[in-house]
Amino acid sequence: MTTYSIAVIPGDGIGNEVVPEAQRVLEAASRIGGFSFDWTHYDWSCERFAKTGAMMPADGLAQIRDKDAIFLGAVGFPGVPDHVSLWGLLIPIRRGFHQYVNLRPVKLLAGVESPLKGREPGSIDFYVVRENNEGEYSSIGGRLYDGLDDELVMQQSIFTRRGCDRVMRYAFELAKGRKQHVTSATKSNGISHTMPYWDERFAAISKEYPGFTTDQYHIDILTAHFVRNPDWFDVIVASNLFGDILSDLGPAVVGSIGIAPGGNINPEKDYPSMFEPVHGSAPDIAGKGVANPIGQIWSGAMMLRHLGEEAAAGAIEKAIEDVLARRDSLTRDLGGTAGTRELTDAIIGALPSSAANAA
Ligand code: NAD
Ligand code: IPM
Ligand code: MN
Repeated sequence: MTTYSIAVIPGDGIGNEVVPEAQRVLEAASRIGGFSFDWTHYDWSCERFAKTGAMMPADGLAQIRDKDAIFLGAVGFPGVPDHVSLWGLLIPIRRGFHQYVNLRPVKLLAGVESPLKGREPGSIDFYVVRENNEGEYSSIGGRLYDGLDDELVMQQSIFTRRGCDRVMRYAFELAKGRKQHVTSATKSNGISHTMPYWDERFAAISKEYPGFTTDQYHIDILTAHFVRNPDWFDVIVASNLFGDILSDLGPAVVGSIGIAPGGNINPEKDYPSMFEPVHGSAPDIAGKGVANPIGQIWSGAMMLRHLGEEAAAGAIEKAIEDVLARRDSLTRDLGGTAGTRELTDAIIGALPSSAANAA
């Protein structure tokens, strides 16, 4: 029997509530695929920062580099500045392990109410492919003339040919099995160096995929199209910051940030990939047992698919869809009254009976 060695980092806030629940679902699903998990728990978090002055140990990445995957909750909590906690844990893992694709599916499912009028389940179904290692997120910059009238701060964006080309190719490869339509998010009217370069690379990579349709929109009107015309999209490729924004807007358009999953993918598999929901630590509801676990559970399904366990991944996704459609065990963000545990129990109960009975 295959055993997958997984690093579990619940992190902060509701990460500590939804990760253990998602592990219960993954354990149940493992019986469908006939595999098992070897979980190693890491307490890397803002709480650890408060005790030790570091989000993770200095050799943290080396400790988990040989794992099959990383299962992460959320990072960041009031008390530690966000740029300190995120650059101390989440971002080094994404970069150190060359997880250069942040893959975030957006799908309108039955039972979930879209804030948009008249949208049918299945009518919104696309992927945001977000560049995850460079772009507008950088540690290069500085601050000068503190306290003077001339006080200034600078931040550099970095776009490399390798970085653009590989994430764009990933988007086209993903679209191959879908509608073969790729949209690029740009802003080459206002940002005069990096974004024209992004467009240039998108045009060059598009040529490698004859027969595909492509389009590009400036990020401002693209956000409007997400709301007005979400059915136009199949695969959207975007820089780090634009992809971040689009991957919160997409889930909002299909119901709730609480159900949105994500994968930080290293396509070459020379380092582990990391699976985490799109949402953060939700300090406003942390500790109350009301967080929606679906984003975390669905991220677990993405992890199984990445590991090659398609049957178990598909079973979890079907169980999520069935429970959402029934609408009898939903959390507050979806208009229900259930707690985190109750919704998880419903999903485990909706798995094929062999898995659910054994759980
Ligand atoms: P957030 O996603 O944590 O919360 C935004 C809103 O959505 C809140 O009202 C919250 O209650 C709600 N929400 C989020 N997840 C939910 C769930 N599963 N069920 C029900 N409601 C849910 O975003 P934020 O408030 O901007 O960030 C809080 C902290 O998390 C910050 O420190 C931020 O930097 C961090 N963050 C981390 C990640 C990550 O680890 N990948 C992602 C986003 C934000
Ligand atoms: C996300 C988050 C992170 C990001 C933050 C917390 C640094 O918003 O995973 O989408 O911007 O990548
Ligand atoms: Mn985000």
